[in-house]
Amino acid sequence: MTIERIRNCISDDLLATDQLILSRLSSDVLLINQIGQHIIHSGGKRVRPLVLLLAARACGYKGKEHHTLAAVIEFIHTSTLLHDDVVDEADTRRGKATANANWGNAASVLVGDFLYSRSFQMMVEPGILRVLDIMAEATNTIAAGEVLQLLNCNDPDTDETRYREVIYRKTAKLFEAATRLGAVLADTPQWEDALANYGKELGNAYQLIDDVLDYTANEIELGKSLGKDLSEGKPTLPLIYALQRATSEEQQLIRTAIEQGDDEHLAQITAIIRRTGAIEDTKAQALLASQAAINALSVLPDSPQKQALIDLAHLAVGRNS
Ligand code: IPE
Ligand code: IPE
Ligand code: MG
Ligand code: MG
Repeated sequence: MTIERIRNCISDDLLATDQLILSRLSSDVLLINQIGQHIIHSGGKRVRPLVLLLAARACGYKGKEHHTLAAVIEFIHTSTLLHDDVVDEADTRRGKATANANWGNAASVLVGDFLYSRSFQMMVEPGILRVLDIMAEATNTIAAGEVLQLLNCNDPDTDETRYREVIYRKTAKLFEAATRLGAVLADTPQWEDALANYGKELGNAYQLIDDVLDYTANEIELGKSLGKDLSEGKPTLPLIYALQRATSEEQQLIRTAIEQGDDEHLAQITAIIRRTGAIEDTKAQALLASQAAINALSVLPDSPQKQALIDLAHLAVGRNS
């Protein structure tokens, strides 16, 4: 199963969501349109709206409000990326120059705020208070996760527990909210926690692999620069595992690189990460998370959409971009 086949299984819903994303992006302020179009048209994978749409359909939802909420989730994701690329001083995203590289930090942050608040205008439209509750909690958790990550940066004593807390908050929480919303819209409370758990574990797997790809991907395929985590002094799981297993001399090299946010020794540190098995073991953790995601779905009745969610969990671990 490829991501294209999964998309095909829900292509009408994805098309309607994309049309909504484009129409609700617009503003009478030219710069908002320019930056919004730049990042939306750069072709993100749209994984988060995809899981919301599949979750709603897997619960038997027959209405159309899931398009709105899928667009909401993608707007929130996009606004966090606009902010994230400023914080991370990133120059490439989705194979193009970042918005901050083209228009500067101020414009990126402000348009990120626009998308964020537009998503709040849209999330009230279904008229379901529970939707607001879920999204308010998710966005607050993501913001706290980014701050928590800031505290881990340049700290070589960051351990796996602290790392996991960050990836759950900054990434998995939005996946969890997306799949939970699917069950809420379908009015199937009996499946809400199962879908939320699926989203959470899928999100954890997704970020674990993102952190592997930062050291191992093909830069063109990934559409963003490699080695960013080391240059930000960000201790992700591949680096945490490598640090535990390296010689004392290598440990000193890695600790200094984290403390100084310095990627001068990226090639050498990547070699240590590979030699110590840190890549395989991080992938093994992603596999465990993806299996937990799949297990969470066992209470749901079989359907093509449930199967697509299962396939997506497998793909999240095998992805190269
Ligand atoms: C990037 O997310 C940020 C992470 C949480 C890893 P994606 O890899 O889903 O980014 P796009 O939307 O496809 O560009
Ligand atoms: C992306 O995080 C932003 C959020 C998850 C909120 P990262 O900084 O880890 O992701 P990339 O590598 O820039 O896409
Ligand atoms: Mg980043
Ligand atoms: Mg970041």
